Amino acid sequence: MYGAIISGTGSYLPEKILTNHDLEKIVETSDEWIKTRTGISERRIAGNGIITSDMAAAAAQQAMLTAGVSADKVDLIVLATVTPDMVFPATACIVQHKIGARAAAFDVNAACSGFVYALSVAEQYIKAGSAKNVLVIGAETYSTILDWTDRNTCVLFGDGAGAVLLTQSTDKSRGIISSRLYTDGSMSETICVPGGGAKYPCSLESIEKRLHYMKMKGNETFKVAVRSLTESAQTILQENNYTTADLDLFIPHQANSRIIQSVANYLSLPEEKLFCNIDKYGNTSAASIPIALDEAVAAGRLKPGNLLLVSAFGGGLTWGASLIRW
Ligand code: ACO
Repeated sequence: MYGAIISGTGSYLPEKILTNHDLEKIVETSDEWIKTRTGISERRIAGNGIITSDMAAAAAQQAMLTAGVSADKVDLIVLATVTPDMVFPATACIVQHKIGARAAAFDVNAACSGFVYALSVAEQYIKAGSAKNVLVIGAETYSTILDWTDRNTCVLFGDGAGAVLLTQSTDKSRGIISSRLYTDGSMSETICVPGGGAKYPCSLESIEKRLHYMKMKGNETFKVAVRSLTESAQTILQENNYTTADLDLFIPHQANSRIIQSVANYLSLPEEKLFCNIDKYGNTSAASIPIALDEAVAAGRLKPGNLLLVSAFGGGLTWGASLIRW
């Protein structure tokens, strides 16, 4: 077994900013409602022909640059997204071409938990000795699946991408300690895009019913999110003989600042051990954790030897956590 260390991080946020005040002109909402209920002030929107693979490639290139590893040394690309460029091929294949790599490439579909799922897949390849460098990317163009007439969902999400390069190491004192993934398919329709798949293929009727837009039962999701994020964090810490007091930084999926605050309260985590950037980007789904991680690194919030916990929750339902020694 080898160690799997994060050797580089990167992110890409589109330039266009959509503020809560801009949204007040699109749906019946208010800056005050959005800020109080979610903590979001603004989000980024891709537009201008920028799509998921473009943002993913930009974030991946930055991760390779900070790691000092060129594209020809990458063995595998695992890309988490639910807003692929096309139904198929996998967006990871398009990214492979855009960055000039020869690596095997595939997508992971686990909604907002996508990055934690993808990271855990990469971890297994590296620890088993099957790959030396794996690009793990979370990238989303949510603006393309949002119903801009539905105030329950369109105010919550944004576009962007984040990436890490996971590298094999013989130093097992650093890197991913372990990961834990969970799924509850009985709630698969709680957060979903019903149309455009085999169940409701694209038709005039599916378009009229707006089935190709994201649907979410927000209230139900909230409760499950708090419980699953808290329990998965507690489990992974216990399994590795740590307590929350040992943690230096917690990067939760950025879905709602009230969810993040509730989880932090249950875990008795002080503010300074919590990373939150939801006010600037909203929920960028699979991209939220790698974007936050890249920002945390840039802000000097992670020092060698620090204990980092990342955890996410999303459609599927899926949730999970990774414990990392920086
Ligand atoms: N502006 C103004 N009012 C609104 C808006 C809005 N944008 N959206 C909803 N409301 C109204 C509702 O219509 C409702 O009005 P009513 O009482 O007259 O019916 C009222 O506000 C309260 O609505 P609730 O749904 O109860 O509001 P809540 O406090 O639960 O907040 C929210 C809603 C923000 C969606 C919250 O439930 C949430 O964050 N849920 C979790 C989302 C999440 O974590 N998703 C997981 C990841 S997503 C993924 O995987 C793709």
